[in-house]
Amino acid sequence: MCGIVGYIGERNCVPILINGLKRLEYRGYDSAGIGIIDNNKSIVVKNKGKVSLLEDKLEELNLYSNIGIGHTRWATHGIPNELNAHPHANEDNTIFLIHNGIIENYQVLKKGLINFGYKFKSETDSEVLVHLIDNFIKKGYDLTTSVQLALSEVEGTYGLAIVYSKEPDKIIAARKGSPLVVGIGDNENFIASDVSAILAHTKQVIYLEDGEIAVIKKDSFNATTVHNDEIEKEIHEITMTLDEIDRGGYAHFMLKEIMEQPETLRNSLRGRIIDDEGSSVLGGLTDVVNKLVNSKRIIITACGTSWHAGLVGEYMFEQFCRIPTEVEYASEFRYRNPIIEKDDAIFFISQSGETADTLAALKEAKMKGALVLGICNAVGSSIARETNAGVYTHAGPEIGVASTKAFTSQLTVLALITLLIARRKSLSRIDGKQIADELRLLPEKIEKILTLNDQIEVIAEEFKNSTNFLYLGRGYNFPVALEGALKLKEISYIHAEGYPAAEMKHGPIALIDENMPVVFIAPKDSTYEKIISNIQEVKARGGRTIAIASEDDNDIDQLVDYSIKIPNTIRMLTPILTVIPLQLLAYHIAVKKGLNVDQPRNLAKSVTVE
Ligand code: G6P
Repeated sequence: MCGIVGYIGERNCVPILINGLKRLEYRGYDSAGIGIIDNNKSIVVKNKGKVSLLEDKLEELNLYSNIGIGHTRWATHGIPNELNAHPHANEDNTIFLIHNGIIENYQVLKKGLINFGYKFKSETDSEVLVHLIDNFIKKGYDLTTSVQLALSEVEGTYGLAIVYSKEPDKIIAARKGSPLVVGIGDNENFIASDVSAILAHTKQVIYLEDGEIAVIKKDSFNATTVHNDEIEKEIHEITMTLDEIDRGGYAHFMLKEIMEQPETLRNSLRGRIIDDEGSSVLGGLTDVVNKLVNSKRIIITACGTSWHAGLVGEYMFEQFCRIPTEVEYASEFRYRNPIIEKDDAIFFISQSGETADTLAALKEAKMKGALVLGICNAVGSSIARETNAGVYTHAGPEIGVASTKAFTSQLTVLALITLLIARRKSLSRIDGKQIADELRLLPEKIEKILTLNDQIEVIAEEFKNSTNFLYLGRGYNFPVALEGALKLKEISYIHAEGYPAAEMKHGPIALIDENMPVVFIAPKDSTYEKIISNIQEVKARGGRTIAIASEDDNDIDQLVDYSIKIPNTIRMLTPILTVIPLQLLAYHIAVKKGLNVDQPRNLAKSVTVE
């Protein structure tokens, strides 16, 4: 998704902007550009495609400037090309800006501006902003006031950075629904949509909130509302290091993140299990724990992989907490006027904490008076800040677009929340202790599964040319079937579907032949025998089969073409183990197909627009 970086200070901004944009590449983009002021003249350089192409272009131009802004664009309005790339400039090239988000009333605004004689160069919604600001400057206002006046006419979402060559001492930034953070340096300041873009230079940051406009000079910062009311802002210290963001010697971020899971799980669990009581302690939920325990219904809302984690959460909450639980796609929840009662608790699960649909669903639920709780990975993200309370997953930055370690940490946190609630209800100490003990053993068990990497690579070689895949699981492992299929389609572009295994006979069985590999998630649990029958049905129709099975299951080898054996655990925690071979299978198939694993086509890490 689009990225923003900006600099004002005493150094040449060009390499700072380029390096910042490279840090933002992981979010997914299709074009890139920068705007700077050189000798009171604005210079905008942009292109379709990679930041490295922009870098080559800039090298030839040999530019120098102490102020500039850069952008990576992920097309929403208008195709990915140079004209639609940001920054967008006004007609006399004095103002330029970059924009994340969507201006919903841009057509009305555009019509009005065209009537005033403005000419548009791009097909974007963003370009209206620069002409709107220009219109106020022409009426005699300074840049800050012009931005305030322009934004009071705008409907939609924005993270914005604006520069004006006639006021070259400042960058104006504004936020509504799209994240922005200001980095505070020594005689230099930064702006970014994501801290990773500026972390090489400063760890002191100020998070902008919706409706705030910031004036950033090299030695000062101040924030106001659109009505020019001053706002006091707090400086935060970032604890994340750049090393954490690097690939750490692995060929891809995705592989690094899969391999990191023993550690990320330890981080998700650290300090949160009370062994003696067979319970958990979650600081972020302390104030709401009674309300949560007494809630009559839980709703879990999320998108993508986080939604799959929610489905597993539903099984956990209903089995152990005995609270009716529903799982909703955030995009559906936000628009269907959901019924929300005063005793409902609503969880919003999001790795990035910035997914537009999840954030909008959260605002809708909040407006209706629900208890809104977050399960987020990105600290200080919008969802984390908008919720009444919540739990961080502590998986560390996830860069690969296909989510892996964030998913297993979400499941871990859901299990901890289950313990927290269930122990205050009907779960006995002994049973709670068993869950707690099993949680503690997971990192070691994952280490064991990761040693199967080579075996899984061999299976990937065998199936890399398949054009369809079916994933089947039951109970807790039905959501894992969905997640395994999602991983494969995201990065290998192979059509894959996940189904509850028993539903196979109601449709998918018609697809089975020797060209349809079927992945069964078949650990030894209460549904094992039934899954075995499903495997037999597939075999009888010539389908090729792969099973994720328990390490002590010797019988299954006679039945399936390939089996991947994993350690046993209690039923509610099996998804945390069964998903790992599926992540590796998708990864190796995509690598063998020569695809861009970390930045798959058309996908974005953080979907901050609808
Ligand atoms: C995008 C990503 C997915 C992710 C989903 C939800 O589609 O590509 O990997 O699962 O957004 O993201 P969130 O940050 O809210 O978990």
